[in-house]
Amino acid sequence: MAKYVGVLTAGGDTPGLNAALRGLGKSALGEYDLQLIGFYDGFRGLMNDRSVILDEQRLSGILTFGGTILGTSRDKPHRMPVGEKLLDMTDAMLEVYEKHHLDALVCIGGGGTQKNAYRLMQKGMNVITIPKTIDRDIAMTDTTIGFDTALGIATDAVDRLHSTAHSHHRIILVELMGHNTGWLALGAGVAGGADVILIPEIPYQPEVISEAILDRVRSGKRFSIVAISEGAITKKSSEELETLLKQKKDARDKAEKQTAVEKIEAWQNMQANKTISLAQELEELTGLESRVTILGYVQRGGIPSARDRLLATELGTAATSMIVKEKYGSMVAVRGEKMEAVPLEKVVDRRRTVPLEHSWIKAAKRVGTCLG
Ligand code: F6P
Repeated sequence: MAKYVGVLTAGGDTPGLNAALRGLGKSALGEYDLQLIGFYDGFRGLMNDRSVILDEQRLSGILTFGGTILGTSRDKPHRMPVGEKLLDMTDAMLEVYEKHHLDALVCIGGGGTQKNAYRLMQKGMNVITIPKTIDRDIAMTDTTIGFDTALGIATDAVDRLHSTAHSHHRIILVELMGHNTGWLALGAGVAGGADVILIPEIPYQPEVISEAILDRVRSGKRFSIVAISEGAITKKSSEELETLLKQKKDARDKAEKQTAVEKIEAWQNMQANKTISLAQELEELTGLESRVTILGYVQRGGIPSARDRLLATELGTAATSMIVKEKYGSMVAVRGEKMEAVPLEKVVDRRRTVPLEHSWIKAAKRVGTCLG
């Protein structure tokens, strides 16, 4: 049976990471007498062998803390910034894994971390992952640690913006996190009663939004709240991107491919400040004063919700069971009421986007919310 288990937290932090470390650690130590070694700052700490023994004392009193006691980073094992260069450091990580005689390595992280853990698995490490991200976009799991807390914070913001938008007869756009998926903006938008919800899965047209806002004005409502994912784009931009991606795919030689890549980068740069541009456009189209609130990192900060603590404790303790059963190369996933081991092959290079027929979308439409 396993004796030594390593653990790290990687990618953007989320509330509930410490609860997961505690769940994993307390069950590993208490039930199975495993020794738990934490690595600081994600894969970088594994590479540099910066570690700490996670004993009972270190795991106590952290359940309600936000962030992660281990620290985190977005460094990737195969493209690690070392000096001026990006180097493949997976072999160095394998050496540290072997030096500590680890039987397993638990990686707690989002979509990128699942892929990075998979790479370490291919190097021969016994890897188990736990899904966390406020974006809730990891494939093969119903939910992820951090989403519920972020949803509460984002909903509170949408609630609070109502009174000020109402008093000033303004349009207020609130930009929420979610580069590639709209779970957070959609959830907070529906829960907070936003009048318009814009998500990456549904490219929007400013004219459709302004019409919906003017309809509200005609019915006597002189303010509107727009909840927008940071990754939401216009229909026009989405079509442009599609053309550029096709050009890249069809490139006949290196030069053509390079040109297409440069055009895609230029397209990406054009996307900066798009919520502010949309606010200006809506002001022009409707004649109503418009303001923007970018909620940013506040969505990832602070005390985890009860639901996230519960989820993290379930996932952490389920990871211990997987180590004991030697179900390596898997992610502990939430599937209905159960925690299940899903092979990492089924998780990586996929993303859980909002299906257009999802019940939250249906509900939003049925209460008259404009989706752009
Ligand atoms: O992946 C979670 C997330 O919070 C996204 O919603 C957001 O787009 C991104 O991280 C921000 O990344 P960073 O912490 O690197 O600025």
